[in-house]
Formats: sequence, structure tokens, C-alpha cells
Amino acid sequence: MSRIRDAAPGGPKYAGEVTDEAPVGSTIGDVSPRRTPVRVPASRYISTEWAQLEAERLWPHVWQLACTLDHVREPGDWFEYTCGPLSVLIVRGDDSGLRAFQNVCLHRGNELCSGSGTGMDEIRCVYHRWCWGLDGRLREVPSRKGFGVLKNDEYMLNAVQVDTWGPLVFVNLDLSAEPLADFLAPVVNETAWLRTEEYAARAIITIPLPCNWKTGIDAFSETYHVQGIHRQMIPSTDDVNGPQQVWERHGRLGQPYGIPSPRLRDGATDQEIWESFVATQGERVGQPGREDPGPVPERRAGESVRALLARLIREQGASAGIDLGAFDDAQITDLHQYNCFPNISPVFLVESLAVVRTRPGGTPDDCLLDLFFLQRVAPGAPRSAPVDVTMDAETADVGTVFNQDIVNLQRAQRGLHQPGFTHLTLSREEMRIENLHRNLERYLGIEPSDITGG
Ligand code: FES
Ligand SMILES: [Fe+2]
Repeated sequence: MSRIRDAAPGGPKYAGEVTDEAPVGSTIGDVSPRRTPVRVPASRYISTEWAQLEAERLWPHVWQLACTLDHVREPGDWFEYTCGPLSVLIVRGDDSGLRAFQNVCLHRGNELCSGSGTGMDEIRCVYHRWCWGLDGRLREVPSRKGFGVLKNDEYMLNAVQVDTWGPLVFVNLDLSAEPLADFLAPVVNETAWLRTEEYAARAIITIPLPCNWKTGIDAFSETYHVQGIHRQMIPSTDDVNGPQQVWERHGRLGQPYGIPSPRLRDGATDQEIWESFVATQGERVGQPGREDPGPVPERRAGESVRALLARLIREQGASAGIDLGAFDDAQITDLHQYNCFPNISPVFLVESLAVVRTRPGGTPDDCLLDLFFLQRVAPGAPRSAPVDVTMDAETADVGTVFNQDIVNLQRAQRGLHQPGFTHLTLSREEMRIENLHRNLERYLGIEPSDITGG
């Protein structure tokens, strides 16, 4: 194995890499080389006061990923999304309209529904059996006369904004918030080539973790840690020069695979690239869980390992009835990761989509890590309800790379409490974490000068 060194400046560049020019639409997140690091107060990750500010000024006002369309595809399908104390009920109506409501009975405040299900034809509170239609209109009040005049129009369930991006359903409790498409811009247009509507949800795996929700999503906002936590990826991953971009709220990374990291002084042999790729994402080339992947498969004349990987992924897709013919080799081989404010990272491969989401837990030191797993299916293929499970961090097995992140996140929070650690120090490579904080400041009404750096 080659030795790892720090990347030399001026390594290989890729189309679309942002270097000196400000990205289109960017007002913050300067990506030019820094004179000093950005320093973020550690208290943002551990203090109850900060968490309280988020609870008041962020979560009730921001668009949040709630579930997938496959959770609420048929009339009567419903799904409860929770974020801390907030609970939103998403319902597919008899008229096929998608609606969302605050999950509270307007009689005495009982929670209306818990979990998810199908076949709902009314929303009935179990406490005293007040009942609403799936459109949120009050339908029935037992012993109604006892209330005197009680107007149905004044007892509509509290509406919540709901909208979709490809297969993903978002909600926003703030009815005055901008439309989802405006909030997500330009990510929706950026990803249109992926034909996002073809991804079908298979599962959401929820894992409670002892870390702040930002600690969690930060680990999916930079590739600086690949050389620390995911070293087996190094021979098959350029973890240094993948193009990053930050927009006003969101960011992206293009992660090239099938080439070695420039951190490897002597590069990597074709065999090392192959072994690294199979060890970390062998299922993409029909080699899931292989300890010994064997020699590099036979190649066509002049075919690089990277081109071979693209061909094998294409063949895998074809054998599953998925047409990847419209995509070029780089689109097929590489990872297309987005970071959408505040708490999700959709990670696109052409054949699958994983969405990482972190939600606040009961204390600043707790969160829920949710992993959405989706797979591309042929247009018109039948869809089935996803499987949603909660696993504990010790036993969850969600693939080699995610497993490594989960193990690390269990130790990522405790150090933040040490009195000598006052600030996180961010490099240019960690610009997507900085962007999260710049946007948090806006929502929370914190002076931008609280983050230093230049
Ligand atoms: S609290 Fe729901 S009907 Fe009374
Ligand atoms: Fe990671």
C-alpha cells in the first residue's frame, strides 16, 4: 500500500471545479483560499440555549425532509414526521391531494396520530372522538350541543406546507415561508439530469446517536475525513479534488471514483483501485461483500479501471431492467452529493440514492440519524411501501462506509464539552459546514461576526 501524504496543491482538476470564482448565486461561502481558518463556537453544538434558539427560530420555519412519496402514494396513506417536539401528519387525500397538518386535536390538544399507515378515511382523535376529513375539515363532534355554537370553519386542522422534490416529501410549518422550489434552488435544476422521480424508496433506517444533529450532518458535509475514517477508500477515491460548490443555502460535492487519492504519493495500481472499490461499494459492480475481489476483470483494449467500473455499473443496471444509457462514464461512476440546509445530504449515484438526515434529540448531545435508501427503478415499475426501522448504533449494519461514520459519531460529541475547546476550526475544504452556520445565523438572528475567518 502506498504511503499517504498531504495533497500537493495543483492536483488534478475536474470539470466544474470551483476555485477562485464565486459560485453563481452565492452571497456567502467564499471558496477562494483563506488567509485564516473559520472558527465556529463549540457552544453551538452543546448548549441548551443554542438548541432552544434552534427550536424557536429554525425548525418551525424551515423546509424539512419528512418522508418519501412512496410513504404516501395512495389515498388514505399517512405518515407522521417528527422533529423534536414538532409533529406533522402527512396525508394522501381521497382526491389524491397531498396535505399536511399539525398533529394535534383542536379539542384539548391530544396528538392525533402516531407512526404511519394506510387506508385512513378520517382523522379521528381517540380521546373524545372528534373527527376530521382527510382534507382537514371538521366532520364530527360527539355531544356537540354541549359546546354551544361551534363552527366547523373555525376548526380546520392547522395546515402545514407540503411539497415534493423528486421522490422526497418536504414540510414547512411556517405558512409564510417561500415555496419549496425557491428554497431548494438551484439544487432541483442541478439534479434534473438524474431523473430523480425514478428513485423508489426501500427503507428509512433511524439510529439514535449521542451527538448533536449538526455534529451528525457535518460528517456528511466534507471528505476531509476520508483519510481518517474511510482509509480503505483512498486507492479508489479522489477525496481531495472533487469539485465543491456552495450556493446561498445549499452545497454540492462531486466525488470521483475509480482513481486514487492524490494523498497517495505513489498512486495506486489498477489492482489496488479495484480492490478498494469492491471493498467499499462492491454491490455497484455485482460484487457485494467480497473479502477477496480477485483480479481486475478482463478489460477492453485501452479501458481504464474507471471506464471498466462505469461499464460494469451499466451492465448491472441493464440486468435489473434499468436503463443508464443516457449517462456518461463520469456521471455513472461518481457520487453526486448535495447538502441541503439545514439537515439533509442527498447522496446520488445513478442507480441509487441515499439521503442522510439528522434531527435534534432530547438534549443538544442527542440526535436521530436517519438513512433513506432509494433505488432507481424502471419508469412505471410497481412501487411498494418502504420499510422503516429503528436500530441501535451498536448493531446497525448499513454498509461499510456508513458503519464507519456511525462508529465515529459516537465519539464525536464528547470532546466538544472540554473547557479548553472553545471553537471548531474549519478549512476551505469544510466550506459546506461553514455554509450551514452562515444560514443558521440568519434563521437565528445571530450576527455573522460570531464566526471568524478571512
Ligand atoms: S382531545 Fe381530541 S377529542 Fe378531546
Ligand atoms: Fe464518512
